[in-house]
Amino acid sequence: MAKYYITTAIDYVNGNPHLGHAYEKIGADVIARFKRLAGYDTFFLTGTDEHSLNVARQAEAEGLSTKEFCDTMAGRFRSAWDKLNISYDRFIRTTDSDHVATVQDIVRRANERGYVYKGTYSGYYCVSCERFIEEGDLIEGKCPFHPSREPEWVEETNYFFALSKFQEPLLRHIRENPKFILPVARRNEIVNRIKEGLQDVSVSRSTLTWGVPFPQEIDDNQVVYVWFDALINYLTGAGYTPGTDEFGKWWPADLHYIGKDITWFHCVIWPAALMAAGVPLPETIFGHGFVTFKGAKMSKSEGIVVDPLKVADSLGADPLRYYLMKVVPHGQDGDFSFEGLAETYNADLANDLGNLLNRTVSMIKKYFKGTVPSPSGVYEPLDEELRALGESVAERGHQKMEELDPAGALSEIWSLITAANKYIEDSAPWVLAREGKRERLATVMLNLVEVIAKEAVMLSPFIPDSSQRIWDVLGLPGKPEDIRWDGNPEVASLLPGIRVTKTGPLFPRLDMESSDFTTGEFHLAELAKEKKKEGRKQKTGPSAKNTADTGKGDPKVDNLISIDDFAKLDLRVAEVTAAERVEGTDKLVKLEIDLGTEKRQIVAGIAQFYAPDELIGKHIVVVANLEPARIRGVESRGMLLAGSTEDRKELAIITVDRPLAKGAKVR
Ligand code: MSP
Repeated sequence: MAKYYITTAIDYVNGNPHLGHAYEKIGADVIARFKRLAGYDTFFLTGTDEHSLNVARQAEAEGLSTKEFCDTMAGRFRSAWDKLNISYDRFIRTTDSDHVATVQDIVRRANERGYVYKGTYSGYYCVSCERFIEEGDLIEGKCPFHPSREPEWVEETNYFFALSKFQEPLLRHIRENPKFILPVARRNEIVNRIKEGLQDVSVSRSTLTWGVPFPQEIDDNQVVYVWFDALINYLTGAGYTPGTDEFGKWWPADLHYIGKDITWFHCVIWPAALMAAGVPLPETIFGHGFVTFKGAKMSKSEGIVVDPLKVADSLGADPLRYYLMKVVPHGQDGDFSFEGLAETYNADLANDLGNLLNRTVSMIKKYFKGTVPSPSGVYEPLDEELRALGESVAERGHQKMEELDPAGALSEIWSLITAANKYIEDSAPWVLAREGKRERLATVMLNLVEVIAKEAVMLSPFIPDSSQRIWDVLGLPGKPEDIRWDGNPEVASLLPGIRVTKTGPLFPRLDMESSDFTTGEFHLAELAKEKKKEGRKQKTGPSAKNTADTGKGDPKVDNLISIDDFAKLDLRVAEVTAAERVEGTDKLVKLEIDLGTEKRQIVAGIAQFYAPDELIGKHIVVVANLEPARIRGVESRGMLLAGSTEDRKELAIITVDRPLAKGAKVR
């Protein structure tokens, strides 16, 4: 089995995990889960970068020993990733003892090969980046990434790494390995910068004590520069045995998945250091874009932070995972907003995916008592089209994932969900049921279940918990992750005879009106409705808290209907073209209405509230698919909507508040 070793950047622990960190971990997790599905023996490494000056200063500010502070913070990062369902295989900390030994050994190896020498550094240092900055790179005297913070002037004797010797070998390696730096735009940036010339870089600090001690035999008064230390985590994680050429089961890494701000370290300093130490280079470094919030980069030092855990608390991990993967396009930046998250949740998850599952399961319950029937083997062009799309989506989605493009894969995957919803409309199972076409109905149901099962497999890297729920609702055995996605996920053989179960909605809708988009406090539509009712009764009461992900604390509401139930109503705008009293009654009016495509007669009990003439010309709302009835011997084909008080002393007809075409759908 081919192996796949994927790593993320390791985060500084001077602040809490924020949405930018979360985006990267989720992206890497989606790739790692995909690789497992695609049949690779996968190892996924993430962790924390603890030897930074920032960390030492923050610990001091909080009156803790640096190690104590790091223990607490590393715990926070780790539990954040657990909460977001990040399936890492090891959580590495740069204070781990095997890492300290590996760092010292790599410094030793580079030194033995003549690439490390003692010198004097004087220049600027940005503590937020933990990087030495050349004067020419400062913008108005500030670090381009951290304009709110003064760079510090540093002058000290330390050890240098002879980066300048690697200009040609690096350019050659990049040229010969087109997948070494991705996306291509990042590769071009790096190549251009390398061509401008490489300067040797400092790899130790003599004025700090917090860090991996330099190998004693070289110097016992220095610590390894934090970036040199940090990059080596990838080798430690692979299982490198210091003092040998055993680089570990997982080395070389197949993918370093990192942010675009740290490509220089990963694409230039890291491979040069590996060359200097005689270690093979990683396959690919992918520099992803940033998640921005109102257009600015999420950054603790710049004070722009969204807490991913609060979002996950209110909505669950999956909606956040899905939204971030969708909103940040391949290698580019993407803007996060609470409104965007809620809208995407309602449109894609609650509507498209949730409804597809819900409608299918309801129909199987209703028409086949919950057991998916055996296929008839006879397919119509509509079925063939859906199946062909299913296959091509699986292939193209797979291809997008191989190209490290989760957003592209999602758009493929969604095209099949859209098609399946349309397939329901086009095949009209309710008509098949009415006409007693049981075999055809069974085929339609089975095709739908097959699409949904396949979706659960392909979505499992993105929304693992929800995919499992879908799997369980369909009554499929095991886990969606048990199926291989290396071409077309094979789910058909699992289907005959499975029993579906109906549960609450997969993604209960959010109420856009009562959700607060400045804080990300989301409210469920059902809860909001209830609360409004309660509020009217009590005129007080706290706002409803969302409990979407847990299902805990659901209110006891027993008159809820699903969106599907509502969708059964065919509500239309109609113009009243004639009206008269029904003879012999004091309540009924007979109306002639124009629905655009047809005229109809309806009877309504509104005579005490409206004179017939007053009604003519009004654009009212009618239930157009109500069974015809005879009221006092007069035919009525539809019903107008009106509001009335409990005692029916007041009544008002529902009309549209501006002109709308006759026959327009009300939804
Ligand atoms: N400790 C270094 C990395 C060492 S890797 C050997 C570091 N830490 S960091 O905490 O500042 O950033 C960690 C990762 O999060 C980086 O890949 C960085 O690009 C990423 N992100 C931080 N903010 C981000 C966004 N707003 N959006 C996406 N990712 C960003 O750098």
